[in-house]
Amino acid sequence: MGGGEAMTKSDEQLIAAAREAAERSYSPYSGYAVGAAMRFADGSVVTGTNVENASYGLALCAETVAVGRAMAEGRRGGLEAVAVVGPSDKGGGEPITPCGRCRQVLNELAQLGNTDPEILCVGTVRVERVRLSVLLPHAFGPAALD
Ligand code: THU
Repeated sequence: MGGGEAMTKSDEQLIAAAREAAERSYSPYSGYAVGAAMRFADGSVVTGTNVENASYGLALCAETVAVGRAMAEGRRGGLEAVAVVGPSDKGGGEPITPCGRCRQVLNELAQLGNTDPEILCVGTVRVERVRLSVLLPHAFGPAALD
């Protein structure tokens, strides 16, 4: 656990939701199942999992699928926390961090609601908690187009 902070019940629930989403991963090419779960200000949770394609480069990451789902539901802000879970037997158990594209995709939804969500990067050895603005400093977002 980064920073030695205690994990709250809602963080544990968010991580559990991400794990459950990873069970529905469609990742026959990489064999790398990822789950993402996003918590909103109203307490609701939206999940996503990675969706690969026979044309390998078209793979969609779990976080991007989650943002797509949330926005398709009409959400335009309120993003408070995101848990990301990868396979426990890869990467030496180190926490998984969202890829660069997903950071940008998450930033869109975050900036729309003026939040800086905490990203719970889950590993087997620890959970690293880091703000999106730390993962993606000086982000380009919707405000730039105003
Ligand atoms: N992947 C995610 O779903 N999220 C990430 O943040 C990193 C990578 C997926 C993409 C691909 O399906 C598999 O993991 C291996 O890269």
